[in-house]
Amino acid sequence: MTEHELRVSKIRNGTVIDHVTAGQALNVLAILGIDGSAGESVSIGMNVPSGRIARKDIVKVEDRELSQSEVDVLSLIAPEATINIVRDYEVVEKNRVERPDRVVGVLSCPNHNCITNADEPIGSEFSVLPEGLRCEYCGTFIREAFADHIDAS
Ligand code: CTP
Ligand code: ZN
Repeated sequence: MTEHELRVSKIRNGTVIDHVTAGQALNVLAILGIDGSAGESVSIGMNVPSGRIARKDIVKVEDRELSQSEVDVLSLIAPEATINIVRDYEVVEKNRVERPDRVVGVLSCPNHNCITNADEPIGSEFSVLPEGLRCEYCGTFIREAFADHIDAS
């Protein structure tokens, strides 16, 4: 890539989530709980031309690594994503996301009567099945638009 084509600056330390399905960057931020209020330094590219997938989004978060739960949910909305760990400007680790068997936390159950939505210390847990995500506690399915069920609390 030439200097003229550089769209988003390199970061010194943190995580680059690359090859994100075009249009999903803001949902990636929601999964990470980033709304700017904590002063995080974040760069986003949307609909950037890419070789492997025709257009991609890219999210760069400084001084932050992702939890396994965050990566698991990310894999559902951006199955082609690569997670690059950057230290001192170098990519020191690169992983493709994998579809998980279960998703713990991050999402909330759409059933308001589910025990995971009550005032109990029980977090959400879903099995990842071909037809969607099934709540382990009440059996309710999330079949699509997973990002609409990100736990905002
Ligand atoms: N990156 C960054 N800051 C750095 C190093 C890398 O923002 N200090 C970004 C690059 O711009 C790129 C991603 O991290 O979007 C992965 O970097 P790299 O592995 O160097 O790029 P590629 O080889 O093109 O990655 P891939 O093979 O995964 O497409
Ligand atoms: Zn439930």
